[in-house]
Amino acid sequence: MLQNKLNIANLNTPIHKLEQLSAALNKNIYIKRDDYTGTEISGNKVRKLEYTLQYVLDNGYDTVITTGAITSNHARATAALCAQLNITCYLVLRGNMAEFEGNLFLEAMLGAHIHIIEPSVSREETMEQLRAELEKQGKHPFTIPVGASDWIGTHGYINAFDEVVEQESDMNVQFDSINLAVGSGGTYAGLWYGNISHDLNKNIIGFAVDQSTDAFKTKIIEILNHLDDNIASYETLFINDDYIGLGYGQATDEELQFYIDIAQQEGIILDPTYTGKAFRGLVEEIKAGNYDDQNNILFIHTGGLQGYTQETRARIQQLLPEITDDKKQ
Ligand SMILES: Cc1ncc(COP(=O)(O)O)c(C=O)c1O
Repeated sequence: MLQNKLNIANLNTPIHKLEQLSAALNKNIYIKRDDYTGTEISGNKVRKLEYTLQYVLDNGYDTVITTGAITSNHARATAALCAQLNITCYLVLRGNMAEFEGNLFLEAMLGAHIHIIEPSVSREETMEQLRAELEKQGKHPFTIPVGASDWIGTHGYINAFDEVVEQESDMNVQFDSINLAVGSGGTYAGLWYGNISHDLNKNIIGFAVDQSTDAFKTKIIEILNHLDDNIASYETLFINDDYIGLGYGQATDEELQFYIDIAQQEGIILDPTYTGKAFRGLVEEIKAGNYDDQNNILFIHTGGLQGYTQETRARIQQLLPEITDDKKQ
């Protein structure tokens, strides 16, 4: 296990109870605000990158290459951390540049070298080509996989699990489950490993945001095997893929309305790509009776607010009361 990490995130992140929702569902529903880890470096990615970039510095790399969707939160957090640490940052982003906004805008401001590729082009192959070119130029680049979800980044959420256990003791509460969005698997892998390392029996419940349960289980087992080749059983891995809806970064009106309702009920903004889908999944599963054996339920808000694109914002505007504008004729 890695011992060294950077200390950049604002930790411990708070946990608080969602009072209205808890009363409505007759459960104690808590939220851990990992969206508070920072601003430029907000969300779950910073916990992973604290280990990954420590590893980069410890091993004498001067350049980082990483990848994600054009809206990637991981890419933005990497760009911000690299700027802070004086590491050159290359981002291979897949998608179409519809608008210069959100994470893409921030990454450019943060000085990252941005390569946008077609959705059909391999991110890994593009990163490999870039690495070879940079090495020819005398650079020493390190490639971080999508979401920093490998054995190194996963340490960030093993650590987060320790933090939850400490908070349980401070709050005098035991969580029956920890619920979260799964996008590249590292956050889930870390929490699951923390749970077995502490020999606790919590349910670690992931909600897939794009790929199937089987695809994510394979990916998570790969990460965990690399971390520890003595894991006896993976039987307790639990990933629900029933709430992917229209697919990665896509939302139905019903989903958008749910995000509006939670915002107005609890004062919390869920993002439309990750936390929104996962939290909706959690609420639907509670309503369906699938949490009947649980009382204290923890959800991790992993960030991602920059994921509200102009298109999604315009759709939400249609669902909200009209704004009164006296200047309009
Ligand atoms: C805001 C947010 N939440 C959750 C996730 C999922 O975490 P992971 O990639 O570790 O599965 C991601 C990234 O994929 C994210 O950006």
